[in-house]
Amino acid sequence: MKRLAILGSTGSIGRSALAVVDAHPTRLSVVGLAAGRRAEDLAAQIVRYRPSIAALTSDDDLPALREAASKAATITTSGPDGLIAVATHPDVDIVLCASSGTAALEAVLAAIAAGKRIALANKEVLVMAGALVTKAARARGVPLLPVDSEHNAIHQCLHGRPPDQVTRLILTASGSPFRTWPAAKLEHATPEDALRHPTWQMGRKITIDSATLMNKGLEVIEAHWLFDVPADRIEVLIHPQSIVHSMVELKDGSTIAQLGVTDMRLPIQYAFSYPDRWDAATPTLDLTRSAALEFASPDLDRFPCLRLAYQALNVGGTMMVALNAANEVAVDAFLAGRLPFPAISRVIDGTMAAHDVQDPATVEIVRAADQWAREHARTLAGELELKV
Ligand SMILES: NC(=O)c1ccc[n+]([C@@H]2O[C@H](COP(=O)([O-])OP(=O)(O)OC[C@H]3O[C@@H](n4cnc5c(N)ncnc54)[C@H](OP(=O)(O)O)[C@@H]3O)[C@@H](O)[C@H]2O)c1
Repeated sequence: MKRLAILGSTGSIGRSALAVVDAHPTRLSVVGLAAGRRAEDLAAQIVRYRPSIAALTSDDDLPALREAASKAATITTSGPDGLIAVATHPDVDIVLCASSGTAALEAVLAAIAAGKRIALANKEVLVMAGALVTKAARARGVPLLPVDSEHNAIHQCLHGRPPDQVTRLILTASGSPFRTWPAAKLEHATPEDALRHPTWQMGRKITIDSATLMNKGLEVIEAHWLFDVPADRIEVLIHPQSIVHSMVELKDGSTIAQLGVTDMRLPIQYAFSYPDRWDAATPTLDLTRSAALEFASPDLDRFPCLRLAYQALNVGGTMMVALNAANEVAVDAFLAGRLPFPAISRVIDGTMAAHDVQDPATVEIVRAADQWAREHARTLAGELELKV
């Protein structure tokens, strides 16, 4: 029995993870759950999975858990310390980090220090503090298992191959709902247009990131930290069918790919079962019924966010913190209807141009850079809002 803590249990990945628990009740149990504001959803999960501990972001929402928690004998807690308490509970073997944003950074570092295996769906934490997280994991001998479908695919393709055999990592991207839109039309793209993802059902922030291709940019940075490969050997290919989840090119010219249905239960289960394989919790792939598989290079002029992510990785240091923070601010403003779609990349570009890069040697330096970038991006977003 593997015992889980799920950070972000009420979200898209969190709910898929609980579906994997439902499919494997003799192999997986739930010790800890943490969510943001959806107290009623968390209360229902407490009743069903009876975790030892559950956390919400704010104290104010805890009363909504009281009845469920007392019936299930679940301890309830809140805030950053609550998230850490869930991630480091002594009975937990695996921490699935599936909360959105960067709130879980300290909890992930604490879980690593406590020797927990990390299943990482959240990409912002690695983009923001990849050096700190990977260094801590290496020092403690803790595996970081990627849940993001592309990195999960690469993990499967690499299969322990020595780094000197690998020439390129190839990340696939669905190519956004705006793949065929001309630049002029993008000026008028609405949040509703951008939230219509062609192949995946996901949370709102990552769906907008997919529309701008920033999601792929964040994934390039994530791949760099997870697999220790430089930016110039990480390529992105647009693959609208989302069947090939990613590929690895080897030095003898072979390319190894991982294929599967577009269902996050597959990579989540892999991260839980690794190195074992369990029976599928998802339908399997029927290639005779799929459309022809297409591949193309991304258009960096219409989707500049991907170029900005490569640029941040090449500069290094806290430039990746600035990229990520500015993106979160710009995406929020776009979702709130305050910023036009093309202005998302302008806010990020402007924030990066003004950023004074530092060595992200401590969590405090990372958090300070994050704070600075958010404030700068808010100012830029305000200016662009008035101009358009
Ligand atoms: N969805 C996918 O298919 C997918 C694929 C690959 C990677 N990812 C990555 O996985 C992460 C989650 O994505 P998602 O699509 O599942 O997002 P989502 O549906 O928006 O869910 C986010 C989850 O995080 C929780 N949360 C937010 N702030 C929190 C905080 N301060 N403390 C604890 N929990 C907090 C939310 O709680 P409340 O809802 O209760 O507020 C919710 O449970 C993101 O980093 C995303 O990039 C997602």
